[in-house]
Amino acid sequence: MLDTLDNLERTHTCGELRGSHVGQQVILMGWVAKKRDFGPLIFVDLRDREGITQIVFELGSHTEIVHDSVMEDREEVFEGDALVFTGEVIDKAYCLKSEYVIAVEGTVVNRDTAAINSSLPTGTIEVRAKKLLVLNEAKVPPFQLEVTGSSNLADESTRLKYRYLDLRRPELQRNIRMRAKAVGAIREYFDKRGFIEIETPILLKSTPEGARDFVVPSRIHQGKFFALPQSPQLLKQLTMISGFDKYYQIARCFRDEDLRADRQPEFTQLDMEMSFVNREQVYREMEGMFNHVLRKAGDIELPDEWPRMTHLQAMELYGTDKPDLRFGMRHVDLTEVAGRIDFPPFAERGHIVKCIVLKGSEIPGVHELSRKSLDNLQEIAKRFGAGALANIRIGFEAASVFDQWPDPKSDIPEEKHGVVKSSLMNAIGFAQVYRLINASGAGPGDVVLIVAGKKSAVTSSLRALRNEVARRENLIDRSRYECLIVTEFPMFELDEEKGTYVAAHHPFTSPMDEDLELFKQAIENEADHHLLGQVRAKAYDAVINGYECAGGSIRIHQKEIQDLNFKALGMPREVARARFGFFLDALEYGTPPHGGFAAGIERTCMILCGTENIRDVMAFPKTASAQDLMMDAPGEVDTGQLEELGIAVEARE
Ligand code: AMO
Repeated sequence: MLDTLDNLERTHTCGELRGSHVGQQVILMGWVAKKRDFGPLIFVDLRDREGITQIVFELGSHTEIVHDSVMEDREEVFEGDALVFTGEVIDKAYCLKSEYVIAVEGTVVNRDTAAINSSLPTGTIEVRAKKLLVLNEAKVPPFQLEVTGSSNLADESTRLKYRYLDLRRPELQRNIRMRAKAVGAIREYFDKRGFIEIETPILLKSTPEGARDFVVPSRIHQGKFFALPQSPQLLKQLTMISGFDKYYQIARCFRDEDLRADRQPEFTQLDMEMSFVNREQVYREMEGMFNHVLRKAGDIELPDEWPRMTHLQAMELYGTDKPDLRFGMRHVDLTEVAGRIDFPPFAERGHIVKCIVLKGSEIPGVHELSRKSLDNLQEIAKRFGAGALANIRIGFEAASVFDQWPDPKSDIPEEKHGVVKSSLMNAIGFAQVYRLINASGAGPGDVVLIVAGKKSAVTSSLRALRNEVARRENLIDRSRYECLIVTEFPMFELDEEKGTYVAAHHPFTSPMDEDLELFKQAIENEADHHLLGQVRAKAYDAVINGYECAGGSIRIHQKEIQDLNFKALGMPREVARARFGFFLDALEYGTPPHGGFAAGIERTCMILCGTENIRDVMAFPKTASAQDLMMDAPGEVDTGQLEELGIAVEARE
């Protein structure tokens, strides 16, 4: 009789068996992860999604090998019509290869003490096989699945081409399951709190939100296009106008933008919106949701109330709107002190001077930083727009030499100046260097890195230096989770190329009440247009470990303000109507005050899984150049399809 799954049922998973199962007859099914031959003994690591169990085939132990129909062409396995082999069939176990799919029946036994594998949950037992059924063979995988450490992984493009194989790796299995758990926890949170899950369409009208749209041609309406949602922003606002009050959705979003390590063209958001709320109420839902999800899916505890920081503070202290608070090195403003020093880069009008302090207590020996390291930091600073990077290195002996450190009452004698080394020493002299040290808050054993110049260059180069030093010196404690809500984002950003203002978040975000007059003034008087740059919005982000995990705002609910906003953005009334007419009409039929946020599911899962690569938390991601290597997409479509759509493709070089 052919032994197939019709009369064989799996009793346990490969991650389940423990000492308490010893003596039981079990049937396991899975993939051959590894096979080791020791003459009369064959060990197979059998893998399924729950783990690995060691199977032992022993010569003379009456192991029974059964092959099902897929093996029928292997004559040596069959004796006439008989499909079952016993006795010496241990030989047949030798034919097993990596990734073969098998079923094994056997007895759970304790491993010898020496053979216990404490890194496996099933590592104290093994299954002595009595029966083996080969369910399917496998070609030799194009890369090794069994690897320890990410440095031994095959190159990513090969793994993406055979993504279904890469996904067999326990690490990716864990990530994808973590993601499912996180999404489950999100649903649990919002359902419990009375939010209603509403699906919004994927085929939309193009309403660009900053990135380019992916468009879909219409066959029925030739020459017209749908757009895929960059987010369900307007639709969720319409659900508020419809009176649903509390909405949420796990929403697929599409953005044709330049990709980075934490960006994909197709990604998923938890999208939510609520009516009759102020910012604090939305913050509470944001905190509540993240806290629930991180606790449920990752056992990670965050504070009930997250620290808050305005956008302005974040930029001043960290040079970024998404600071990683797991390490220090805040930016310190030296503009005032440095401005009084007769040194052109410091004193030039319009220049600011800022520094970061590398603490000797955190980076042992940092004051002896090598020439090479300094050059390297200098190069990074320049890459981010700084003219130069100045440094001050303070010897440990300074504590005793400057007996009243950090504020000596009298001048420090010249022979003691040598404990401080600085690239500025020749240009400005010891006394001024000392003044800068004092203003920076640095102490003995520390290094001060100083950049002077235009605000944008100083901010970005110090941000890059802070990140680089933290990475290089291993200052980031990976077991820590530091969250914050960044508030009061600017309403507009200047598009330097075009010289116009664009919405910093999106054009439906409300200005802060305090800045409403400024907002109106900037729109009404041409000469005050630049004041738009100072208007703050009721917009906020949730940041965890330096990642922007969510963003949102209180929306404009009054038509007049919305009209003004389009005016501020230089969008003529007809253009606004053509793009958003449906929404502008709706605003006039009793729109409640409302606001909400959207959280990036991938970013959240990156935090949960401890990875910096967004592809690690997506089952079938795109490459950095927006391709699917497995399906080979985007691909060409046949001419018939194009003709139906009324589209002709110009030949491209
Ligand atoms: P925003 O554009 O800030 O806001 O997006 C919200 C969150 O989505 C994630 N995210 C991305 N994740 C992966 N790849 C991308 N390309 C990508 N782009 C964004 C981030 C981000 O914080 N409609 C508004 C939300 C609102 O105002 O309610 C919106 O989409 O984690």
